[in-house]
Amino acid sequence: MPAVAPHLTQSASRIGVLDQAARAAREYLDGVDARTVTPAPAAVEALAGLCGPLPASPTDPEEIVRLLHELGSPATVANTGGRYFGFVNGGSVPAAMAAAWLVSAWDQNAAFRVQSPVACALEEVALGWVSELLGLPRGCGGALTTGATMANFCGLAAARHALLERAGWDAENDGLFAAPPITVVVGDEVHPSLVKALGLLGLGRRRVVSVPVDGQGRMRADALPHLDERTVLCLEAGNVNTGAFDPAAAICPAARAAGAWVHADGAFGIWAAASPEYRHLAQGFELADSWATDAHKWPNIGYDCGIALVREPATLRAAMSIQAPYLQQGEREPSHFSPELSRRARGVELWAGLRSMGREGVAAIVERTSSHARRFAEGLRAAGYEILNDVVINQVMVSFGSAEQTLRTTARLQAEGTCWCGSTVWHGRTAMRISVSNWATSEDDVDRCLAAMIRAARESA
Ligand SMILES: Cc1ncc(COP(=O)(O)O)c(C=O)c1O
Repeated sequence: MPAVAPHLTQSASRIGVLDQAARAAREYLDGVDARTVTPAPAAVEALAGLCGPLPASPTDPEEIVRLLHELGSPATVANTGGRYFGFVNGGSVPAAMAAAWLVSAWDQNAAFRVQSPVACALEEVALGWVSELLGLPRGCGGALTTGATMANFCGLAAARHALLERAGWDAENDGLFAAPPITVVVGDEVHPSLVKALGLLGLGRRRVVSVPVDGQGRMRADALPHLDERTVLCLEAGNVNTGAFDPAAAICPAARAAGAWVHADGAFGIWAAASPEYRHLAQGFELADSWATDAHKWPNIGYDCGIALVREPATLRAAMSIQAPYLQQGEREPSHFSPELSRRARGVELWAGLRSMGREGVAAIVERTSSHARRFAEGLRAAGYEILNDVVINQVMVSFGSAEQTLRTTARLQAEGTCWCGSTVWHGRTAMRISVSNWATSEDDVDRCLAAMIRAARESA
């Protein structure tokens, strides 16, 4: 018999490698504030050291961790620190990060209660907490997913089931080729992940009716098409560029009265509902039938953690459930509500992060990051640059002049490394996006990054 990785069975060396990983993680996190946000080009080149052929014989786990830390850590983007403003990437609050370590040690499969009572119980509790924080109706339920893309997929799958069932059609079993048509209505500024989800569901990326939006990307309530019981109306809480909210309070009552299914993509913005100061922005979204959001964005739970919630959990179950004699058929088995069968116990991290922050901690992230966003906007405006959006939450778009000048400034800022921002095009104007989504960002970070942005703009003029 060949000696197949004998160290894998020895608990002593398991403890050694975990201690080593904890030391490496601590060293990494301790160094994050001192380093550039983007990795040095030499660090990215050095990744070649991890890219060779698979060795024929085993390698000691401590050597693996050493390699990862030596060559992998420097080639990361430091989005866990307070100076990363790309996309809508949050960080990970300490309790969620530590829970993720424990989850890896537990290695639970969160598909069925018999596989992991703790994972299933905490997922259910956390889903309840989320729906309470977001002010959603009692009795709604759902699933944890990889992200908002799959959460949109879940909400829209529940919608597809419900609308076609009403029309006497079984979408899950009979498919869509001869099904009665469903109309999907979206705003002109719909997030592409929702459109992708429509494609995955056979509802078609191009088969949508698009509603005109205003200058902030909000769906115009006065421009809605006819809605009926075969319509899925997709609203958005938090545009990825402007942070603006569709006027749900003006739209939802009539949509519901017409029998339409309202789906809300609130990947990050809907968390405004957790803050007494910002709750008014999310008003009316509680009237939807399904919601998609992310805990890995504004609530800073760490990747990956999407959340799908539906008013009538039975509709999601009908769309997602899975049957086989060897699989459990209990009341609230996670895999009957989610696209996957086997799945990571991400509910534990969600539970831990929310439990550590409490209602006030979640509200504080929303309020603090939004106040940082205003500080960025005021500082940039005072320096003579144009802010392209109404800064209602944590999103800022700035133009440094022409499209070329804005792109040059963004590239210079990215290369300089104090912070990282991406670019976008908003209604024909090229802009730099600043998304303040990390719990760790301080006022000092904002001032330091503001100075770096202004410097980059002047040097790119
Ligand atoms: C409004 C909106 N919906 C959906 C998504 C997709 O989220 P994820 O990357 O978690 O799938 C995003 C991402 O930024 C978003 O802003």
